[in-house]
Amino acid sequence: MIERLESLLKDAREELAKASTKDLVLQAKGKYVGRKGEVASLLKDLGALPPEERKSAGEAINKVKTLIESEIERLLSGFLESEKEGKLRKERLDITLPGRFVRPGKRHPVTQVMDEIEDIFLGLGFDIAEGPEVELDYYNFEALNFPPDHPARDMQDTFFVGGDLLLRTHTSSVQPRVMEKKAPPFRIIAPGTVYRRDSDITHSPMFHQVEGFMVDSKITFSDLKGTLTHFLRSLFGSRTAIRFRPSFFPFTEPSAEVDISCVICKGTGCRVCKGSGWLEILGAGMIHPNVFRAVKYDPEACTGFAFGLGVERIAMLKFGIDDLRLLFENDLRFLQQF
Ligand code: PHE
Repeated sequence: MIERLESLLKDAREELAKASTKDLVLQAKGKYVGRKGEVASLLKDLGALPPEERKSAGEAINKVKTLIESEIERLLSGFLESEKEGKLRKERLDITLPGRFVRPGKRHPVTQVMDEIEDIFLGLGFDIAEGPEVELDYYNFEALNFPPDHPARDMQDTFFVGGDLLLRTHTSSVQPRVMEKKAPPFRIIAPGTVYRRDSDITHSPMFHQVEGFMVDSKITFSDLKGTLTHFLRSLFGSRTAIRFRPSFFPFTEPSAEVDISCVICKGTGCRVCKGSGWLEILGAGMIHPNVFRAVKYDPEACTGFAFGLGVERIAMLKFGIDDLRLLFENDLRFLQQF
């Protein structure tokens, strides 16, 4: 019995020493210490021994069993360990890698200024209206009291589409369109894209305007001055000086050009204001009776003011941009600054 035990222990140790995988260890486990393994069959043979030998033989078998089992345990936990390590190595995350980031979008500087202008007038109770960019000659010129031979109708300034159609040269075309549909009183702003045959560092063939107009029975030039003063000081700061100069537009009478004190030099004179201390910022006036007549309003009962401004020019002044064309090149390095 002792000999059998010794050779069993030796065999088991040799086999386990050679077991290079978990499966081979498990196989050896079944073979030696499993329910039908060699140790089990030794225990079964105990009954054949004389009673006085059984106790010590039983103890010897159990000792060998324990030895084999603890060796198996040791090997199995080694495999478990290296399995875990392998898994960890495979699933390793390099948390020092920079992430893929999404560049946040921004509104274009022209849109930012347009939104700001809209907000100021919405705060004064103005509504927003829009008109078509491909416009009838009638709304762009005729209803606005342009005489047939007025120089602004010249091929120099206007893109003609053909027939009665053209690309609107100003958002003033929205005035008669709204008035045809609406009875006073109302106050409207009309932001939009306009087109002129013009291109240099301060002119682009496509640009944006915001038109404003208000019609009621007793609107005066003071209402115009008060509205524009509030608007321009909201936009450029409360210390901005404002100046109205007499001017001419076919669709307003009297007409004015409005200047603000130079945003760069505050009025002392610099390159941007060409030494004058003033910057021309918009055109305005009291709506001409002929415009009211064109939309079948009673010119005796209605009064109103109108103004129009160039959005790019305001964006350039607000952001200190000295070439208008930069606004339309869509260079992200430029646009990201605003
Ligand atoms: N439409 C004029 C322009 O484009 C501006 C303007 C609008 C003037 C309204 C007076 C009243 O220059």
